[in-house]
Amino acid sequence: MSSTTGATSFTARIGRIEISATMAINNEATRLRSQGVDLADLGAGEPHFTTPEHIKQACIEAVQQNFSKYTPVAGFKELREALVARHHQDFGSEYSFDETIVTTGGKSALFNTFQVMIDHGDEVIIPVPYWVSFKDMVEYCGGKCSFVTTRAEEGFRLTAAMIEQAITPKTRIILLNSPNNPSGAVVSQKDLKAIVHLAASRGIYVMSDECYVYLDYTGKPFSLGSLKEYKNSLLLMGSLSKTYAMTGWRLGFAMAPKAVIGQLQKLQSQSTSNPTSIVQKAGLAAVSGSQQCVADMRAEYIKLRDRIIAGLRTIPGVKVNVPQGAFYAFPDVSEIVDRVGIDTVQLTSRLLRDGHVVGVPGEAFGMPGHIRFSYASSAENIDRGIERVRTFFASL
Ligand SMILES: Cc1ncc(COP(=O)(O)O)c(C=O)c1O
Repeated sequence: MSSTTGATSFTARIGRIEISATMAINNEATRLRSQGVDLADLGAGEPHFTTPEHIKQACIEAVQQNFSKYTPVAGFKELREALVARHHQDFGSEYSFDETIVTTGGKSALFNTFQVMIDHGDEVIIPVPYWVSFKDMVEYCGGKCSFVTTRAEEGFRLTAAMIEQAITPKTRIILLNSPNNPSGAVVSQKDLKAIVHLAASRGIYVMSDECYVYLDYTGKPFSLGSLKEYKNSLLLMGSLSKTYAMTGWRLGFAMAPKAVIGQLQKLQSQSTSNPTSIVQKAGLAAVSGSQQCVADMRAEYIKLRDRIIAGLRTIPGVKVNVPQGAFYAFPDVSEIVDRVGIDTVQLTSRLLRDGHVVGVPGEAFGMPGHIRFSYASSAENIDRGIERVRTFFASL
C-alpha cells in the first residue's frame, strides 16, 4: 500500500524509512550556525583531516588527462585489483578482482547488497547499538531487523551465544560492524570467528561493515576476510571514507562471492552505472600508495580519544567506556536524563540549542540514555565541547 503526504502519494517502501538522524541534526546545526551561533561540533561522523595530498593529485591528473568517460560498472580493473592486493597484504584475504565491486561510498555497497540479498520477511540480525542507516536499509527492502542488545557495562561485548538466540528459520544475514559506530567496541577475533562459524553452519551470511577496520586501536586491524575458509558465507563491505579522509569523494567497495558481485553489478548498472571516474583514480592512489597517512591519522585519533574520555569522565553523571576503535565516544547519561525527566533526544536537542554542542542522541543508534560525541575534531574543539557539556549538564 502506498503512503500519502498531503495530496501526493508515495510508495509504501519510502514510507518505511526516515531521513538519517545524523543528517537531521546536521541540518539543525547548520541553521544555528547561519544565525551566527558558534558551535562546538562533536556530531560529525567524519575525519577532521583533509584528504592526503597524493590522493588529491591523482584526481587532478585524472581530470587533466580527460579520464572522463564511463568506467566499467564494477569499477576499472586496476582499482579492483589494487583493492584486492591491499586487502591481501593487510589481512591475508584471498579475493580476486571479479569478487570485488567498487561503489559510490560504503553506504551504497551496503544498500545495494541488502537490495540483492533481502526479500520481504527475511530477517537480519543487527547488534545494538547500531549505525543509524542499517535499520532503514533493511526495512526499505521489506526485511525485518532482529536486534541483539549489547551492554555498556560489558564493554558492548557481542558473542556467538547472543547471536544464536536471535536466529530463526528466516534469518538471512548477521550484520557485524567492528569497530562499531557508535560504541567504538571491537569484537574480539575469538568472538568473530565463533559468530562466523555459527552463521556458516546454519547457511546464513555474515555481512561485515568494515568501514572503520583501520581505526582499530586494540592491535593489528582484523578483517573477516582473513577467515578464508568461510569466504562463501561472507559479505565484506569496505569504504575509503574514514581510512583516507575521503568522505565527500564517495568511494567504497564490496567483496563477496562472485554470484553476489554479479547481482550487485546488475543493480549498479541500472542505477549509478559506476562510481565517478576521476574519484576511482584517487582511490587507486589511496590504496596503492604509501599507507603512512593512515598510520598517522590513527595515531592522532588515539590521542584525541584519550583526551575526550579523560574529559567526559570528569563530568558528574556521565559514565563512559574507553572506545577501542572508530572515532566516537558513547557516554551513558541515563543518570542525567532520569533526574531531569527527559529523554536523550530532548537532552541532545537542548544541548545543541542552549549549550551549543553538537552530539547525536542514543535513540538514533537504538540505545537511548547515551549520546554519541565524535572525537574526529581538533583538541581545542574537544576541550571547548567538554567544558560546555559540563556547564550545560550542571545547569539542568
Ligand atoms: C558504520 C558505518 N558504515 C558505513 C558508513 C558509510 O560510509 P561511506 O558511505 O562514507 O563510505 C558509515 C559512515 O558514517 C559508518 O559509520
